[in-house]
Amino acid sequence: MSKKAVRGTLLDCIADPWLAGDERKAVRYLPDGVLVWQDGLIIAIGPADEVLRAHPDVNPEDYSGELIVPGFVDVHLHYAQTRIIGSFGRQLLEWLQIFTFPEELKFRDKSYADEVAGLFFEVLLACGTTTVQSFATTHPNSVTAFFEEAERLGIQALCGLTGIDREGTAPDAYRDTPESFYEGSKELIERYHGRGRCIYSISPRFAFGSTTEQLRMAGKLASEHPDLPIQTHLSENPAEIESVLEFFPDCGDYLEVYEKHGLVRPRFVAGHSIYLSEDEFRRLGEKGASVAFCPASNLFLGSGFFQWDRANHYGVRWGLGCDSGGGNTLSLLRTLDDGYKVGMLQVVTSDREKCEESLRLSAIKALYAATLGSARSLYLENQIGNLEVGKAADFVVLDTGASRVLDERRGSDRPRTSLEAACHQFFGLMMLYVPDVVKATYSSGNRLFDRNNR
Ligand code: GUN
Ligand code: ZN
Repeated sequence: MSKKAVRGTLLDCIADPWLAGDERKAVRYLPDGVLVWQDGLIIAIGPADEVLRAHPDVNPEDYSGELIVPGFVDVHLHYAQTRIIGSFGRQLLEWLQIFTFPEELKFRDKSYADEVAGLFFEVLLACGTTTVQSFATTHPNSVTAFFEEAERLGIQALCGLTGIDREGTAPDAYRDTPESFYEGSKELIERYHGRGRCIYSISPRFAFGSTTEQLRMAGKLASEHPDLPIQTHLSENPAEIESVLEFFPDCGDYLEVYEKHGLVRPRFVAGHSIYLSEDEFRRLGEKGASVAFCPASNLFLGSGFFQWDRANHYGVRWGLGCDSGGGNTLSLLRTLDDGYKVGMLQVVTSDREKCEESLRLSAIKALYAATLGSARSLYLENQIGNLEVGKAADFVVLDTGASRVLDERRGSDRPRTSLEAACHQFFGLMMLYVPDVVKATYSSGNRLFDRNNR
């Protein structure tokens, strides 16, 4: 395939800004940059004059004046909840019963699942997300529909059959069994893992909803497939945690339930992880496991405040998730708006004063969380997360003047003026998000969303 390229202001993270000392050292900023790719992979990045001299055969798509950043990486959401997003007035356990399970039951039907999968990826790409790890439902059709659409688009996507078998925690018609979870997962792993950019995630929904027998099956799958990711939920809501400790009286804390079943290892991604003890964070860090920060959901469902400074302290990898439909958005830019506010609310509480700088989610830290940090939490940092040569050409073109207010706020302070200006504009996109800020989304170098052709 021939080479292709884009030209614009390029901004990406090359290191962890929390560890960089001066966070500006964690980014690469090219005010007038060119990115070149071939066969879906980046082959050059640098100042426009240099790159164009080395690649005189390319004719870049011109996004001069726009900000180009790596595609966003969403490590935790539920595609099957796309149609019940923004359901009013309930916390987690009631919200699941009243809104979620009735909707997810519909995914028994393949044509319904196909319809929602199509809608979901369309919306996701319009938000600038190019990698997604999603839960499905207890029905194999829900996974098939998701992977078929992901493969058709060529997008990097992780998903798995979602297990929940404990009586009383979901409608009987929705629950599966340990055996159907194991057999169904096995079959889907064989069919989809490694096909296109599809990755299979072993997906017991949460310890609240799984019996010991089902978690044993999840552990068996994990030991038979040591490199597969595992996704679940952990310590999201006080009522959920209380029940988990009653269901598993031999476990000293929530994390131990997953540890006992051999699930906590690299590529284990636990959604929420709000109410963890120091010891749970320490064990996650030691085992190379990851957590997902889902601020939109944590605020919308009234679950609580995740503390990323504690995760950082124990070296726990963490990524960002919109957790739609528990989160009221599919956009990671909007999710960062909530993430920023979660940090700021913790700055005012006196015992956290020492962590003030770490808790201020600057543009650079936010960009890292939504891209390279999330990629690291999935152990995919060698393939995605920034604009490094050799990685997938997954990126998003952002219009920093997409609304009247954004335009007024920007003034003459264009992203290409300076790194500070680019950061100020990216922060503005988080805080004043409107759908039009995403101008184009590219996955493997293919423009899968174009604002002008909507
Ligand atoms: N815990 C178990 N299932 C879910 C879900 O669908 N959403 C959220 N936010 N938490 C969960
Ligand atoms: Zn979730």
